[in-house]
Amino acid sequence: MSSAILLASTQIDMSYLLPTFAALAPALDIRLGPDAGAPDEIDVVLCWHPAEGLAAALPRLRLVQSIAAGVDHIVADPTLPPDLPVCRIIDPDMASGMVSYVVWAIAHHHRHFGAYLARSAEGVWQESPIVPSRLHRVGIAGLGVLGLATARALAMLGYDVAGWSRSPKPDLPVGITGFHGNDQLDEFLARCDSLVCLLPLTDETRGFLSADLFARLPTGAHLVNVGRGAHLVDADLLAALDRGQLGAATLDAFTEEPLPADHPFWHHPGIIVTPHIATRTGPTVVVTQLLDNLARLDAGTPLAGAIDRRRGY
Ligand code: NAP
Ligand code: GLV
Repeated sequence: MSSAILLASTQIDMSYLLPTFAALAPALDIRLGPDAGAPDEIDVVLCWHPAEGLAAALPRLRLVQSIAAGVDHIVADPTLPPDLPVCRIIDPDMASGMVSYVVWAIAHHHRHFGAYLARSAEGVWQESPIVPSRLHRVGIAGLGVLGLATARALAMLGYDVAGWSRSPKPDLPVGITGFHGNDQLDEFLARCDSLVCLLPLTDETRGFLSADLFARLPTGAHLVNVGRGAHLVDADLLAALDRGQLGAATLDAFTEEPLPADHPFWHHPGIIVTPHIATRTGPTVVVTQLLDNLARLDAGTPLAGAIDRRRGY
């Protein structure tokens, strides 16, 4: 019986991966969804927001591989078989992309570069207060692959960095203060002049960025959401900005993408919107990691980037 890889997405055109498969593994049987062919021929699904019920309908499926770091778009499917392996991408280019985005967002806010851009356009020579980086306290919610890389970079630039995770991190690099669990959340939030959300989207973290949380940040804090749109309660952010509880927000992920043209985030003076570009993984990395996991499946060795199905990330 043949074995095939199905490229599946309800949101993007997955054919961008076809030339890379042709170059790196020309003998593989690649199917471009929604035309999967015979369901019992599909071995692996490679995907971004696959259709609900897809995995459950493929009787010989051995792996669902995300083209991304996040897997929330896969595990949200209530019909996903509970023991089916799900893997994410882990890639140094993805980490460096996230680092440069967050460093930009933090520096843009802390050094008032938005005001300088406006003054430059108007020919105005005027300083804003210059605050040393060590006096700007940055908190990274989520100290995983991307959060830790980002925390390290900010600490190297001299920012006063803390991270918050589910489990304790006893061996954090010098310059990063660790907090963990709900018991330490208040202490963590109280020292975030900028808060960066780099959490995975799970049942526990959905709606994390809410009015209740904003009230526990220093007045005027800056929010950077590079996690998922559903981490944020949109109306709570608008209200917190409008009453000065928050000073600014830099947002890269949204509940509905593309962000609808009439969404109030677009024209709010305190919000910068970017179109989910904080970082990305190129086709060569995606295909190489898929091929590596295919070899691991055949060899019966542990998969790379396998998530914990119970935790959801
Ligand atoms: P990761 O390696 O899975 O790390 C997740 C971190 O979040 C871990 O430190 C984990 O704690 C912590 N965490 C999870 N649930 C928590 C909870 N309930 N309370 C406290 N901490 C919790 O993820 P990653 O690779 O760093 O990526 C994070 C997310 O970034 C992805 O899931 C994706 O949504 C988003 N992302 C966005 C873009 C973009 O372009 N905007 C690109 C890539 C990824 P433990 O360490 O204790 O497990
Ligand atoms: C992008 O959002 C990712 O999860 O890699």
